[in-house]
Amino acid sequence: MRVKRLLNQEWRFKLGKLDEPNKLVKKAASIGGLTAPLVDEAGDIVAVGAGGEHFLKLIAQGNRNKGLEMLAGTQLNAELTSKWDTINLPHDWKSRQPFINDPSLLMSGSKQNGQGYYRKTFEVDRSADDDTQVFLHFMGVMGEASIWLNGIFLGNHYSGYSDFSFDITEIVKYHEEGINVVLVKTDTTVGSEGWWYEGAGIYKDVYLEFLPRIRIDAPETFVETDSIENGQARLKIVVGIMNQSGNDRKKTRLLCTINNHTECFDLRPQKSSSTKITYTQVIDDPDLWSINTPNLYQARFQLLLEDKVIDDFQQTFGVRLISYSSNGFYMNKKRVELRGVCEHQDFGGVGIAVNKDILRYKLLKMKKMGVNAYRSSHHFASLDLLDLCDELGIIVMNENRILESSEWRVAELEQMVKQTRNHPSICFWSLCNEELIGNTVLGERIARKLTSVIRRYTTQSLIVSAELLSPKGIVNEAYMNHFDVNGVNYPEAEVNGNGLVMLKKKYPNLFFLSTENASYFSTRGIYRDNAEKCQTSNFGSSFSRVLPGKRKKGDPGVGGTAHPETVMHFIKNNSFMGGVFLWTFMDYFGEPSPFAWPGISSQFGIVDTVGFEKDYYYYYQSQWTSKPMVHVMPHWNREGLSIDKDGLTEVRVFTNCPEVELFINDQSFGRKLSGEDYTSWYVPYITGQLKAVGYSSNKPVEDLRTTSGKAKSTRVRLCYDGISTALYEVDAIDATGHIVPTANNNVRIKIMDGIFLGSANGNPMDISKFNPEEKRFFSGKLMVIVEKNCQKQPKVVAKITEDVQ
Ligand code: GAL
Repeated sequence: MRVKRLLNQEWRFKLGKLDEPNKLVKKAASIGGLTAPLVDEAGDIVAVGAGGEHFLKLIAQGNRNKGLEMLAGTQLNAELTSKWDTINLPHDWKSRQPFINDPSLLMSGSKQNGQGYYRKTFEVDRSADDDTQVFLHFMGVMGEASIWLNGIFLGNHYSGYSDFSFDITEIVKYHEEGINVVLVKTDTTVGSEGWWYEGAGIYKDVYLEFLPRIRIDAPETFVETDSIENGQARLKIVVGIMNQSGNDRKKTRLLCTINNHTECFDLRPQKSSSTKITYTQVIDDPDLWSINTPNLYQARFQLLLEDKVIDDFQQTFGVRLISYSSNGFYMNKKRVELRGVCEHQDFGGVGIAVNKDILRYKLLKMKKMGVNAYRSSHHFASLDLLDLCDELGIIVMNENRILESSEWRVAELEQMVKQTRNHPSICFWSLCNEELIGNTVLGERIARKLTSVIRRYTTQSLIVSAELLSPKGIVNEAYMNHFDVNGVNYPEAEVNGNGLVMLKKKYPNLFFLSTENASYFSTRGIYRDNAEKCQTSNFGSSFSRVLPGKRKKGDPGVGGTAHPETVMHFIKNNSFMGGVFLWTFMDYFGEPSPFAWPGISSQFGIVDTVGFEKDYYYYYQSQWTSKPMVHVMPHWNREGLSIDKDGLTEVRVFTNCPEVELFINDQSFGRKLSGEDYTSWYVPYITGQLKAVGYSSNKPVEDLRTTSGKAKSTRVRLCYDGISTALYEVDAIDATGHIVPTANNNVRIKIMDGIFLGSANGNPMDISKFNPEEKRFFSGKLMVIVEKNCQKQPKVVAKITEDVQ
């Protein structure tokens, strides 16, 4: 039977170049050093056979001469003492390194590249067995990875965005044979794949998997929705079966159960062969998967050999149909406007070591804003992310890293499509992002190859590419024709999106989608640009990326590539676009546009690097959700506000209520019909309480900002309680209990009953060192991330250590 065993705990980690084992050796499995058990670990340092005994004798005599090491390939007895840290996965070694001022590292987050080694010993508590194969899976390793097991070099893996595994059936040590040693080298000095912070190290799960030799071939097994008509869904089911044993099997039976209906097939799987069973099943009254009802089904596949179950495999899937037309995207025959966001994969404080808990926290925050789609830019989505999006009803645009069709890239794409094709959330496969060879003859050849790979393995997603519009209007029709939907990044970069509208007129049969848009800068809690502090205003920054010739006269600057309002209008006025994917939901490390050092993170996010909302979160929420809400900006502390020569300051309110009223200290400044985007007032700054009230047919809703004094204490709030991780928001509080939105005091942190994983405050120039004990507030907040390590709930105590603001 199949068994999975996580290997995430208790790895040893060392940063810096080591005297590592050779990849090629002269005697099989005879590398000593770090890939063999060490003196303080049980087991032999070289394999014990006739030749091994000879080695052991020499070693026992203290003969560790060069000749011996030459044969072994490395020093026989590498040191592994206090210099190695003990860590648990997921882990990002780069995130704990200091920030450094080096222009060549600015885009990737101002952290030094290097090598990090991971080593783990484990025992396999069963005997070698002819009926089982053993695999070692790595779900994500950033940097070029080299892996050794028990002195044997298993291989290199190049991309940090694809998972990989090794068949270790023969070379793993079973039971009394001794302990196993896995050594992983991660190297980021050999080049990066992206122009953003990518992190480094083993940042996803590692596990062992024991699989029966005659088994359901998981990547070859899938369930597709063929049609949904008259209340019936017709499913196509393909089951892969492989016999990796040396014997032909006679009586093998396959049982497939979906929705309480079982089909039975008798098979005779030949030795070393694979076969497939394809059948259809109709489900009456299916519970469809959609963004509002993310219903999931389980298919169960069992293999029986002479009435004994030898494999039992469950596959989750969803029943849904999708299509795209000149009117946008359809799911289960209903138009769904894509309200999407683009994301990289890091998170403040932990880098790319983002576990399922942190991911869920982030996805829930997106959903609350009204997001229904996620573009995994610009790389494959992790399986954790896909599981969560299936469960939460979030449409995924899964993205191939790059428009290349070398054999290994093609093999990787093939693997990723196969292993994810049962996820109902994947409605789109994006082939690439803004490739220089897009719309060229070379690009066309490669796109032809890659789209054919995706189409060979799935009919359940639409293929898209994310392109920039050529200012000269250059397109390659053959290239565009390969896609079900032509993605356009930043259609507004062309005045009013005219280029795109003209393209649509010229090619009425092509379908379009805004795969990336806005790139709107803003720093949480900031209402005035300040280049020295790398801060941009939430009212719209004068640091614009719109080309000078295309700026409107008097435009204070759009902050990024387009105002959020312009993006939303464009989508509303051009329904053929199907919706939008905003760049980005979260601030991410690296790409600190429009600043340079000491800017270390981007400011395109709608929330900061830990998910604290910036004001425009509520703009999108007012546009995309219907539960009555209101949000007032700015904060109401004099410092940091822009006050004009007449003593007035702008107050902006986002609401989905038809009417809104503004009060200062309970004096009304007028009730108004809500503006299409927001409602503004220019009011005198008067210390006290700023209040916006939204009126609809429901109970009025309100939002308050109160002038505060200096920060005197903290308030710690558990903002997400996951299975293994808890996220704590720490707020600055003044003497009267009010939040201090401008506080930047230093805070001492103490954690009880938990392990510190990281802290961050969303400041785009927070270059402070990794420090579990201290962190500064930024705009009155910081986040502490804690691993739960026992039955008790962790406790976080935070104390202000200085009396400044
Ligand atoms: C896009 C690019 C993104 C990011 C963004 C910043 O053109 O696809 O990866 O760099 O610009 O505005």
